[in-house]
Amino acid sequence: MMQISPAAASPSSRTTREPELRTQGSEQARTQERTQAQTEGSPAPLIQVTDLQKSYKTARGALNLFHGLSLQVEPGEMVAIVGQSGAGKSTLLHILGALDAPSAGTVYCASTNVAQLSPREAAAFRNREIGYVWQFHYLLPEFTALENVAMPLLARGTQRLEALWVAANWLREVGLEDRGDHRPGELSGGEQQRVALARALVNNPRLLLADEPTGDLDEITAGRVFDLIERLHASHGLTSILVTHNLDLAARCTRALRLEGGRLAPLAASPQTGLQAGII
Ligand SMILES: Nc1ncnc2c1ncn2[C@@H]1O[C@H](COP(=O)(O)OP(=O)(O)OP(=O)(O)O)[C@@H](O)[C@H]1O
Ligand SMILES: [Mg+2]
Repeated sequence: MMQISPAAASPSSRTTREPELRTQGSEQARTQERTQAQTEGSPAPLIQVTDLQKSYKTARGALNLFHGLSLQVEPGEMVAIVGQSGAGKSTLLHILGALDAPSAGTVYCASTNVAQLSPREAAAFRNREIGYVWQFHYLLPEFTALENVAMPLLARGTQRLEALWVAANWLREVGLEDRGDHRPGELSGGEQQRVALARALVNNPRLLLADEPTGDLDEITAGRVFDLIERLHASHGLTSILVTHNLDLAARCTRALRLEGGRLAPLAASPQTGLQAGII
């Protein structure tokens, strides 16, 4: 695959600038629309989950993960979900992001009934509406950082050169404009996760789903990656759901929920300090 460093991808001629300006313009317009809708108080929640159930067949019988779980998330919210290992946090994110299907209940996400999507529709829905970040970056090791960020654009049919320009802008936004030609193995853990964030958001999705995005990082790096998520959440008018074991980070979200016994409930806060600090 041809390699273009962010510097090389920075266009100088009129011909090469046009796609970037067009893409930036439409992205700015979409972000503005979202921010305006949020300020005016959009009537429709972005996520509406009702009576969700999920069962797995196991050798020891059915494993029923959720018990009538409900969740409503308004546009612009940044919601933390905490809970013990095995509570079903990742499964819930997979269902919201149309990576897994519910056994019962309704799941509306970004105006879409995700349970009714065919595999092809689900892939298109994810590409258009969802930015997904996992604990491990899952960058493709044989491609550069710039190419990794450009992948979702290429998958939706964007011209290669335009995809690389947009990707270069996203690398700049996450502070890695000078790392575009590095392969994932040539990046630090925090840098890998910043590239993964740029890749998750390059298609300008409405919803960011992050599953322990800082779980594999040391405390200082985790704090910096979380700062970046907060900044991107605000500047791009995102609605974000973050699964974390870190209560300090959960306390920085607009709302924190605990998944326990198959249901979501507000995370108890102590009166003086907000949430109890620490890791669960
Ligand atoms: N495909 C599957 N078949 C059977 N059981 C499954 C399957 N996927 C997940 N589970 C079970 O469902 C439960 C919830 O898994 P999940 O990965 O959602 O937990 P989690 O809350 O994300 O945990 P962690 O904090 O460790 O990541 C676990 O007990 C797991 O073993
Ligand atoms: Mg998990």
